[in-house]
Amino acid sequence: MAILVTGAAGFVGNNTVRRLVAQGKQVRAMVRNADKASLRLKDLENKIEIVSGDVTERSTLPPLMRDITAIVHTVAIPMERGDATYDEVNYQGTINLVDAAEAEGVMRFINVSQNGATPDHFSRFLRSKGRAQEYVATSKLQWTAVRPSAIFGQQDEFFNSISRLVSLTPLIFPNIGGGKATFQPVHIDDVVEAIVRSLDDAGTIGKEFELGGPEVLTLEEIEKRIFKAMGTSRALFPAPAGLLKLPVIIMQSTLPGAPVNTTLLELLKVPNVVKENALVTYFKMTPKPFSGDNITYLKQNTPGIALKKMFTNATVT
Ligand SMILES: NC(=O)c1ccc[n+]([C@@H]2O[C@H](COP(=O)([O-])OP(=O)(O)OC[C@H]3O[C@@H](n4cnc5c(N)ncnc54)[C@H](OP(=O)(O)O)[C@@H]3O)[C@@H](O)[C@H]2O)c1
Repeated sequence: MAILVTGAAGFVGNNTVRRLVAQGKQVRAMVRNADKASLRLKDLENKIEIVSGDVTERSTLPPLMRDITAIVHTVAIPMERGDATYDEVNYQGTINLVDAAEAEGVMRFINVSQNGATPDHFSRFLRSKGRAQEYVATSKLQWTAVRPSAIFGQQDEFFNSISRLVSLTPLIFPNIGGGKATFQPVHIDDVVEAIVRSLDDAGTIGKEFELGGPEVLTLEEIEKRIFKAMGTSRALFPAPAGLLKLPVIIMQSTLPGAPVNTTLLELLKVPNVVKENALVTYFKMTPKPFSGDNITYLKQNTPGIALKKMFTNATVT
């Protein structure tokens, strides 16, 4: 019997698969994009079962549940592209998966939600994630939800995107939205630890766990730590969110690997800080800070890599 991980080629997904394999667990890795899967999971190909699947294709999901004891659901899109809307993928996709799990009797379900997501949030992204979690919570499943703040690590999108922009800007850098937005960056290893421990801990059933790092940082502090990790410095100049809206609209409509869209830009208004950090209070862990050796990976972002990502949406391995 195996654990089904959805979004298994994604950032949280492939790191979860790796940890489960290291624990000796059997894994069925559901991926959508075979090329990305072979980049991210190649070394595990003989140790796991890789299956292709799309959460928006409801009828294809029940066969993926056979011989499965638990599901870790990581699929979500932070940016809409074409037919892939927040409602279709994040909300309806979760409904499709939950319904298939119930129908096939796979009762244990870990939902990777998002700090701050609520069913009535003004942000369409956080609303889709909040409605998805609401559906999970009212299902018959033995569910657990983790709700991380912004996650950092080698393959992250958020911190790497800032770092890639830094690599393209000599001397000065826009202090995004005035730099006042707040985050509680949490390391991927800590998030994965909470996920895999939850799978083995019946005490987590029916609970939602907010996950954060040890520090609340403003975006300006994050920008400065990124400069330091990259061994560089920039003079910050104020770039209010209102002024960034037009360049962001142009980027999101022209670049395949645009670092941000207007929906994510408006989220700068919302503090991404956890109320109770379950990594500390429930899992009794010492979360890793967004500093020192934990962020040296940001040096990987050269101008060449930044341009390749923007123009081809290349996968970070
Ligand atoms: N990263 C963060 O900072 C953060 C913070 C809090 C919560 N979260 C949550 O953590 C989860 C994982 O995020 P992540 O950062 O790992 O994102 P990610 O790297 O983009 O991974 C998501 C995966 O879902 C796949 N996917 C997208 N649409 C799909 C569909 N219709 N059917 C099947 N698979 C589909 C993607 O496949 P493709 O690669 O083919 O597009 C991708 O591999 C999400 O639920 C997110 O809301 C993330």
